[in-house]
Amino acid sequence: MKKPTKAVIPVAGLGTRFLPATKAMPKEMLPLVDKPVIQYVVEEAVRYGFEDILFVTGRDKYALENHFDSAEALEARLEERGDDEKLEKVQAPTNLGRIHYVRQGGAKGLGHAIATARSFTGDEAFAVLLGDDVIEETSHLLERMREVHMATGASVVALVEVPSSEIHKYGCVKPGSIDGDVIQIEDFVEKPKAEVAPSNYAVIGRYILRPEILDIIDGLEPGAGGEIQLTDALAISARDPKLAGGVVGVVFKGERYDAGDKLEYIKATIRLASKRDDLGPELNAWLKEFVK
Ligand code: G1P
Repeated sequence: MKKPTKAVIPVAGLGTRFLPATKAMPKEMLPLVDKPVIQYVVEEAVRYGFEDILFVTGRDKYALENHFDSAEALEARLEERGDDEKLEKVQAPTNLGRIHYVRQGGAKGLGHAIATARSFTGDEAFAVLLGDDVIEETSHLLERMREVHMATGASVVALVEVPSSEIHKYGCVKPGSIDGDVIQIEDFVEKPKAEVAPSNYAVIGRYILRPEILDIIDGLEPGAGGEIQLTDALAISARDPKLAGGVVGVVFKGERYDAGDKLEYIKATIRLASKRDDLGPELNAWLKEFVK
């Protein structure tokens, strides 16, 4: 089993939850403290050796391309001033992996976005990272998922246990046998009502996919929300593991931040800032006063 090294990051979404902030700016560029959300996600991919990264992009996403490109005028100015610290911050995103771009051609769903990656992924397994989920740096989730993919040959999804009241926001799995943090998945339901959810295991935005999943996507009709759903393709493989090697889940117990939800985004900003040496001590002292 070859070690996957390519990652696909869909970034064509409209970000309507953050209007008006996202009227003229991609939602992926919203900062968590002083770094855009998308940079955390790309850093995570590169940290675990996924150095070739494809952005599946759409209309009005130029800010993303600029962020990962060099900014010559700004860099020259900072160099002149001898401001090495800021220069390093400006250059860091440019030096992250090799970033490639493809346009999705309309927001037709996550499955459709991923299917546009085919000429990039070819016949290799690859990672998918969704920009709304920021995973704590020390958690090694993606590394563990790749390890499980290489040991089982299956596609791998990341799972978290959520309260029943939250399961309607996620893809949900019907679990089979469980071995430590690895669950054999028998079926998926996209965004089920709590009453019919087969478990409390929710799929979060990290996947290692076998290339055959793309063939399955090509044969799909639109599913939930009228969109081509990745979940539907995973369900077909999970129900019949002869198709694309089946699907297993890795249960994630570490910290993650949901930057796609307003309240969670605010919490993420505070949690990340409170851990930083330059901001934490003052912020934490202020927070104590504030909650009084
Ligand atoms: C997508 C998937 C869903 C998954 C979620 C994780 O939904 O369709 O199965 O649980 O990502 O973030 P979205 O959040 O794009 O609606």
